[in-house]
Amino acid sequence: MKNPPELMFESAFAEDTYKGLTSSPKYLLSKYIYDRKGDKLFQQIMDMPEYYLTSSEFDILKNNAEAITSYFSNESGFDLIELGAGDGKKTKILLKELIEKEAKFNYLPIDISENVLKELETSLQKEIPEVNVKIQQGTYFKTLEKLSEYNTRKKVIIVLGSNIGNLSHKEAVDFLRNIAQAMSEEDMLFMGFDQKKNPQTILDAYNDAQGITEEFNKNLLVRINRELEGDFKSDDFLHWETYNPETGTAKSFLVSKKQQKVNIRKLGLEINFEAWESIHTEISQKYDDSIVNWLADEAGLHMEKSFSDNENHYKNYIFRRK
Ligand code: AVI
Repeated sequence: MKNPPELMFESAFAEDTYKGLTSSPKYLLSKYIYDRKGDKLFQQIMDMPEYYLTSSEFDILKNNAEAITSYFSNESGFDLIELGAGDGKKTKILLKELIEKEAKFNYLPIDISENVLKELETSLQKEIPEVNVKIQQGTYFKTLEKLSEYNTRKKVIIVLGSNIGNLSHKEAVDFLRNIAQAMSEEDMLFMGFDQKKNPQTILDAYNDAQGITEEFNKNLLVRINRELEGDFKSDDFLHWETYNPETGTAKSFLVSKKQQKVNIRKLGLEINFEAWESIHTEISQKYDDSIVNWLADEAGLHMEKSFSDNENHYKNYIFRRK
């Protein structure tokens, strides 16, 4: 199907939704799950026992705080820049350790949401008032670019939560390359990557019994209904998770339980779904050292050190520019 002229779309969300639902096979972009409701649901997901990613990374940071922060610290001071800071729960472990060490640093959390940043700033003032925080609202790369222009101090860039897993390998290399280009020789990148493991553990994490992940996935349909005047009936779709142990890719789908038509008024679209037709909504890539080394190499980085939890469910890596 030919795309209508760009001007017809009121937003990137409208355009991406049009493209995804007129493609074959159909897809939607997972970044649009995160509106106010989606953010809340993701918080709930991170608190679920099945979603081992949070507790594994928390354990790594707790058990290795001393070793990790000794890679960060230097004599002349540094900027700790966090991409996608969220509520900063895990980062606070490192911040506390750095304060205890009397390290000279500024903490610069970057997030797209001003709200999230304000809450983080307030909670830090209460819990670790010694930390010098400078919140930076904006997209990762615009903000990183700005920082690399005016900054002469060492930068430690951190990305937690295996957020990279929601990107294809090609997108992940571009993402890492963008970071690498903002880094100077002494800078470092500290990043979390969820690891390949028993496939059942992964399926359980993305298909919890309470149905929180299902609601999170279906939030895409709810958002289309609200913002683009769609008439999706969430109950007519099934949340379906797959994991391919060969590629390490977990994929989320919404599957139409019957033949049905859905109208999206603001897109001027009527979409037909055959019974059991799917919409691909998210990938959550799982890694091993060889994939991480390959991605890093492609992006101009090299891995210096890795930290893992007791079960090797998750790893945090330190990278430098090649
Ligand atoms: C944000 N991201 C790393 C999560 C993940 O594990 O892919 C999003 C998520 N999707 C379902 N559960 C959590």
